[in-house]
Amino acid sequence: MKHAIGSLAKLKQDKKWRVIFNDHPYLIAIVGHHVFAIPDQCPHQDASLFQGKIVGDTVTCPLHQAKFNLISGEIDEVSKMLYFDFGPEKITTHKVVIEGDQLFLEL
Ligand code: FES
Repeated sequence: MKHAIGSLAKLKQDKKWRVIFNDHPYLIAIVGHHVFAIPDQCPHQDASLFQGKIVGDTVTCPLHQAKFNLISGEIDEVSKMLYFDFGPEKITTHKVVIEGDQLFLEL
């Protein structure tokens, strides 16, 4: 299902948003010419990844510094060893469709 989330021009200004659908928060971020969407909830202890720092295509969790690739959802090896021994292999990524200046999150 496609959900309207706002304008591309506004996201270019803000760099990242936190949006909520069906009680679930999502981090929307623009890096270069690409828009990414992941759950705004670290799978380790639920910290908000929106509060984390984005460098390149990686977001760092503000609580224990686990790193997640915004494109693939992969968790970096060091973070897996420290926090995700029995946890997920990766996090879910969601597609953001751009139609004109409008952005739509596909869930
Ligand atoms: S809550 Fe994100 S790494 Fe611990």
